[in-house]
Amino acid sequence: MIYLNGEFMPIEQARIPVLDRGFIFGDGVYEVVPVYSRHPFRLAEHLRRLQDSLNSIKLVNPHDDPTWMRLIQHLVELNEPEDQSLYIQITRGPAKRDHAFPKQITPTVFLMSNPLTTPPQQQVSEGVPAITAVDNRWLRCDIKAIALLPNVLLRQLAVDAGCAETILIRENEFMTEGAASNIFVVKKGILLAPPKDNLMLPGITYDVVLELAAANNIPHEVRRIAASEVFVADELLLTSSTKEVLAITRLDGKPVGTGKPGAMFARLHKLYQDFKLNVMRTS
Ligand SMILES: Cc1ncc(COP(=O)(O)O)c(C=O)c1O
Repeated sequence: MIYLNGEFMPIEQARIPVLDRGFIFGDGVYEVVPVYSRHPFRLAEHLRRLQDSLNSIKLVNPHDDPTWMRLIQHLVELNEPEDQSLYIQITRGPAKRDHAFPKQITPTVFLMSNPLTTPPQQQVSEGVPAITAVDNRWLRCDIKAIALLPNVLLRQLAVDAGCAETILIRENEFMTEGAASNIFVVKKGILLAPPKDNLMLPGITYDVVLELAAANNIPHEVRRIAASEVFVADELLLTSSTKEVLAITRLDGKPVGTGKPGAMFARLHKLYQDFKLNVMRTS
């Protein structure tokens, strides 16, 4: 079951007008919320980021947080799996095609649930390969915009190379994030994270990992990470709501560090899993 503009229905029955600005311009924003044992994880934080994205594209939030929470909880109940990946999309709605905002808008609100597929055990224990590519996206990567063509093309580069992710390098100088994930670098026991600025998506999982590092006395620094540091990293970690925390063990065909998931990965992966279970138990 999905939710579209006030109604819950099977996805086969969902229809939107072809002039929806989401379809014509990619004029909209989205969120992906992982749901564990029917509990949305970090929902307040996802809704806050959704609000930030809406503010950035000057679209009024169609619902307040309690309404979002009710809609989301109901959709979770209507779907079978205990663990779900909940997708929220809001567009500026249908209008005669013109770049400028229409005077009157009716936003399109769409929610769907898919089974949550977290990485298979083999990827967790062995890590995944990645490639690097030039970050050729725009300068508002902090907005979770549905217009994802650059990310789509960059992610496909990884798939074509038999890899799991593309790590993005801006201006030949510094690392921003992955095509669909945030990236951490580990060097000499220190966890390095790029700063949350306009060049990366402020990941919810990224925040959790940094909170866990701070709470567990894991040395960490948030600062710009030079491309050269990525290539000599002891470990590389990838984070996202659906991939959680994964080790990148090969980069551009060469081993990262020992070529096996390292001590920092093992520690943060365990902390993340424990944290998740704890949150679920107490929510
Ligand atoms: C470009 C990009 N960066 C980072 C992330 C990770 O964000 P989160 O941890 O909130 O899923 C995503 C998630 O899909 C993404 O698409």
